[in-house]
Amino acid sequence: MGYPVYMEQSLPDPNVAFGDHRCPGPSYRDLVLRDETGVPPPVLESEYRYRGSEPIGFHRYTSKEFAELEFEKVFMRTWQWACREEHIPNEGDYHVYDVGQRSIILVRDPQGKIRAFNNFCLHRGTQLKPPGDQGNANRFTCPYHGWAWSTSGKIASLPCRWDFPHLSDDDLELPEILVDTWGGFVFVNFDPTAQPLHEYLGVVPNHFQGAWDLSKRYVELHIKKRLPCNWKAAMCAFLEAYHVYKTHPQGLRATGDANAQYDVFGEHVSRFMHTSGTQSPHVAAEQTEQEILDFLLGRRFAGLEGRPIVPEGKTARDVYYKISNEQLANKYGSDYSEFKVADSIDSIEYFVFPNGFFFPGARICINYRFLPNPDNPDECTFDLLFLRLPAVGQPAPAPAKPYFLDINDSYTTAPGMDPGLGGVFDQDTDNMISQTRGFKGSMRTAETLGNYQEIRARHLHQTIDEYMARP
Ligand code: FES
Ligand SMILES: [Fe+2]
Repeated sequence: MGYPVYMEQSLPDPNVAFGDHRCPGPSYRDLVLRDETGVPPPVLESEYRYRGSEPIGFHRYTSKEFAELEFEKVFMRTWQWACREEHIPNEGDYHVYDVGQRSIILVRDPQGKIRAFNNFCLHRGTQLKPPGDQGNANRFTCPYHGWAWSTSGKIASLPCRWDFPHLSDDDLELPEILVDTWGGFVFVNFDPTAQPLHEYLGVVPNHFQGAWDLSKRYVELHIKKRLPCNWKAAMCAFLEAYHVYKTHPQGLRATGDANAQYDVFGEHVSRFMHTSGTQSPHVAAEQTEQEILDFLLGRRFAGLEGRPIVPEGKTARDVYYKISNEQLANKYGSDYSEFKVADSIDSIEYFVFPNGFFFPGARICINYRFLPNPDNPDECTFDLLFLRLPAVGQPAPAPAKPYFLDINDSYTTAPGMDPGLGGVFDQDTDNMISQTRGFKGSMRTAETLGNYQEIRARHLHQTIDEYMARP
């Protein structure tokens, strides 16, 4: 790279309280306050408190008993997104959401309402629609004996009904699951007494407005990958930027990884934000703003001929965000005028418990979902979606169908995946394999976490504990 990467080595100040230590140098907030466009208001909010330094036991990732209890206490009681509204735009459109051993049919009923039904037959239990299925239907017919339900969940056909005098039509209604929407996502909750979704989402609906309104976007690319680790271990790889300097050093010349801000907003939401277009505290040599811009553009363009110049008094970020938004506008025909520097180019990632990640950014506009494997705590399923703004005045294209990748398939082989970004995700997968070996083989039985940079992982585990302690 020409610039040595070194480990930022300053020691903790013994006079500073646990949780108050920060990487020396500017904070994320300091960096974005220099942006010429101003800063989106949610980016200026912050919410961190020290949550202890206790080790986190490895059994939480490996134990089958833990996984089973966790599924009952967490997944059966929390809001989780099941599909996008645009997956089921018209009457009769349906989409199957599988989580653990559970399966739900999400369907648009004749009144245009989205409903969520138990995807199993009330006769002898057979699954009605296969896992991952989607399509359009006016009834859901069991493949075994042909019992069928309407898209409102009412029994529509029961062959030899004379043999079931003991069942009324009411007995035969498909059990329904709570459903609600936010940001174009359809959420479900198996707990009929659950708090309303908008309350559950905490600051998120407030923050994701205007340019951040995800309901305006469509699914450009959807990758579904099997990952070689527990669903929480996979998520923890995406909850911090601490690993960037070692695992993804290729971008450090223009990534403010260790300057990142970490927030925990209430029970269900956490966030990190780090810059693109400032150099990492792990890069030893001081670069000029022009060198940072050249690096950013060099990664994306073949040559630097006639390259943009950072004017006196401006930053690489100020120049880069305009170029980045122009490129997006040219490629997608969409309008990025509402975006500031930070939400155009930075990595701004919100986590919603138990398993959803939402990025409001223009360039880094991704969404993750992690689902536990019901048969094996050492594996999970990762949905990776890119949410784009449609072209101005045009209807959004239909959502991309999922492209499946197995554990050993590189993300770079998914059609439409940016090769650089695909390589970054591959680097994360390698860690997941090695870490899972450690969960089982290490002489230590627990992990230790950084008090600040890994606060979101701690918060995740603490929230799981809170849910698991409930009766
Ligand atoms: S099991 Fe479904 S109709 Fe018999
Ligand atoms: Fe990573």
